[in-house]
Order: sequence, then C-alpha cells, then structure tokens
Amino acid sequence: MELRKRNRRLRRTEAIRSMTRETHLSPANFIVPLFVTEGKGIREEIPSMPGYYRTSLDYLAAEARELWNMGLRSVLLFVKVSDRLKDNAGTEAVNPNGLMQRAVATIKDACPELWVMTDVALDPYSSFGHDGIVQGGEIVNDATVAVLGEMSVSHARAGADMVAPSDMMDGRVAAIRESLDRQGFSNTGIMSYSAKYASAFYGPFRDALDSAPVADVSAPSDKKTYQMDPANRLEALKEVRADIEEGADIVMVKPGLCYLDIVREIRNEVVVPVAVYQVSGEYAMLKAAAAQGWLDHDAVMMEQLLAIRRAGADLIASYFARDAIKYLG
Ligand code: PBG
Repeated sequence: MELRKRNRRLRRTEAIRSMTRETHLSPANFIVPLFVTEGKGIREEIPSMPGYYRTSLDYLAAEARELWNMGLRSVLLFVKVSDRLKDNAGTEAVNPNGLMQRAVATIKDACPELWVMTDVALDPYSSFGHDGIVQGGEIVNDATVAVLGEMSVSHARAGADMVAPSDMMDGRVAAIRESLDRQGFSNTGIMSYSAKYASAFYGPFRDALDSAPVADVSAPSDKKTYQMDPANRLEALKEVRADIEEGADIVMVKPGLCYLDIVREIRNEVVVPVAVYQVSGEYAMLKAAAAQGWLDHDAVMMEQLLAIRRAGADLIASYFARDAIKYLG
C-alpha cells in the first residue's frame, strides 16, 4: 500500500511511545485515604479491602513520613468511631480531643509538609449512619450544615490544611468557608465532594468505618435524598458550579471509573483543579479478580488510574496510591 500516513510509526518502540504519550501519572497526583482507629498497636486489615488497613494513632507518624518519602504529598483522613460515641447530632465530630483532631495533630507534627485533608460528614459519628442529622425520618439540611461548619473549624484548629466535605448537603461549602474565615482560618482550603453519587461502590468503605446506614424505622436506609442519582449528568454540573461559587478550591467527582464522562465534562467547564475518588468498591473489584487470577493486578490498576487522569482528573484519591507509586518506580 502507498500510505502517506502510518499511525503505527509512533508506536514502534517504547522510546517513541513514551515520547508521544499524552497522559502521565506522578506521585503528586495522588491523595492517600487513611483509616484511623482508636487504640494502640492496631493494624487491622479491612476484610473487603485486602491489603488495606485501619491503624491506630501510634502508626501514623511513621506512615506519614514514609508516604512523604515515596513522593506522595497528601492524605485524606477518615476515623472509625466507637458505637458508644455515636449519636444523631454527631456530637463527637466536634470534640477538640476527638480521634480525627488527634490524628491531624499527630501527622502534622511528624511530617509538617504533608498536605492533610479531613473528611467532613457526620456518618462515622452518626448513630443512624447518615451524613447528617435525622429528624422526622429525614436528613435535615440546615441544622447539619451548622455542625459541618463547626467540625471544619475544629479540624483546622487541629492543623488540617484542607477540609473535604463529603456529605452533599446544600450550601455547606459557603457555610464552611464562612466559619473558617470567621475563626481566622482563611488559609484552610476546601476540597468539596461536589458530584458525589448514591453509588453501590461504597460498601467496603462502610465496612472499614462501620458507618453504613442502620436499619431503623425512623431513618431512610439509603443516602438517595442527598447523594446524586447515577442517571444524572447535568445535575453534576449544577453541583460543581454551586460549590465553586460558594468557595470550593478543588471539586471532586466520586466514584471514578463509572463516572469518567462526568469528569471530562467538568474538566472542560471549570478552572479549578478536579479530583476523582476511585472508591473502595473499585479497589475491591480489582483485588478480587486479581486474587482469582482473572486479571493482571498491576496492569489493570495502571490502566484504570491512567484512564482517570486522561478523563481530566488532576488529582486521584486512591487506595492504589502506594502500589502505583511503587510500580512507577
Ligand atoms: C461518607 C463517605 C463515604 C465515602 C467517603 N466519604 C461513604 C458514603 O457516602 O457512604 C466512600 C469512599 C469509598 O467508598 O472509598 N461521607
């Protein structure tokens, strides 16, 4: 054939492939989720998340330094709260000496440069397992937002660099921004879970924190009145625009793989960094398939992470962060 254009010329060797590669992954693209639990000397594997652990505070300092030395630059903290501290109002969430507050302080003390982000939502503290306060069978918006503002200030006071509201209440970004500013934390940022879907992929995470909505006649059994319908696309744009208007520094789409169309659309539309949360169920699926020998773990992991970046994610919160960095060498 007399072909003038032969696309395969640029695929002939690894050298030319790497020279013409369009998307790259680097350690600074990752956000490492960490699960913290009360106690000493505890490092327990989460059954539905093989290779991922809940650890007690005493492991955090070494872990923070290790992540930093691997080139990772940020962590996103979640805490497992004991049942006896849970109530409907999420009272423990604003305890200045709570587990989250101590975890933040421990990490900032051990590795001040590491960027520390905290989850802001009531579910780990809620006796109903909901992200907000339950009243009359509903998750009430405005009363919840007031607590989230206080919670954010309490995290900032402990030393958090950025708070990450994952609750999907309306108006919470503005309220959090205002609370932070009023208390003198104008440098504390907000990474908002802007387009967070009511996904079935959060199961293993809820195992990790024991935070699933409880079966109770006085509260809904799912989060569909605040998290988004997986069928919706325009609504994601509406949420993202609102959060940016209200002062979000970074917006997030969650989960990852099933929502890459949304990621691309948002990346094309906004001028703030876009993060993606590759969630627990996505991690569990690959671990399970790899354990059966059905998928090549590392190859699929890298393909998925690259796809998330290619769709437009600047940052990826991922349980694969460590594995991926090791793979990248
Ligand atoms: C709760 C929260 C959830 C996740 C992050 N923050 C679960 C939920 O909304 O029920 C899920 C993360 C994951 O599955 O990895 N506010």
